Amino acid sequence: MTQVSPSLLSADFANLGRDVEMVNESEATLIHIDVMDGVFVPNISFGFPVLKSIQHIAKKPLDVHLMIVDPGKFVNQVRDIGAEIMNVHVEACTHLHRTVQQIKAAGMKAAVTLNPATPVCMLEDIASDLDMVLLMSVNPGFGGQKFIPNTLEKVRRLRDLLARTGSQALIEIDGGVNLETGRQLVDAGADILVAGNYVFASPDPKGAIAALSAL
Ligand code: DX5
Ligand code: ZN
Repeated sequence: MTQVSPSLLSADFANLGRDVEMVNESEATLIHIDVMDGVFVPNISFGFPVLKSIQHIAKKPLDVHLMIVDPGKFVNQVRDIGAEIMNVHVEACTHLHRTVQQIKAAGMKAAVTLNPATPVCMLEDIASDLDMVLLMSVNPGFGGQKFIPNTLEKVRRLRDLLARTGSQALIEIDGGVNLETGRQLVDAGADILVAGNYVFASPDPKGAIAALSAL
């Protein structure tokens, strides 16, 4: 069973409650929530008031992906919306070690995210402290983009790094995931697949989630 974290970025925001209920009833193991600030990425999505509303109806653990500058400033706010996992970009944190420790001290799982051009060796000295590594397989900011094939090699390199550093971190992949790229990613060593467009543009979103989790 592959873990699936459907990304609400591709949900229908006029019917967000209905779409969260769909995820609740599906085989998803997490709900992926993309927060953007228009500075770290060239787009703005939603912020804490929306997350609070999602928290009240979501029955799956919240996997919060912060595409914002200086995410360490928001550790307490992310904890207060009941997040299970807080993902911060290595490119957005000047003091990554401090931020990771603050996330764990707040009782959440710490995940570090890498943009497509950031090498996995950036994690060499922090990997053993992490619960999860999120590799971006598109440039962050938008749903529905094309998968960057180099990610497959990157997953294999990350697997080696985690084994070498004794890290128990899970590997999550975000961007352009569908049944075909999902299969390749799982074969390369991915544990969790984020999927937005593939799930929410499907005529059968629950079936799409079930198909990914069967990979
Ligand atoms: C992109 C976001 C993703 C996005 C993935 O910046 O981090 O989570 O929703 O969307 P798809 O699966 O459509 O590529
Ligand atoms: Zn994301």
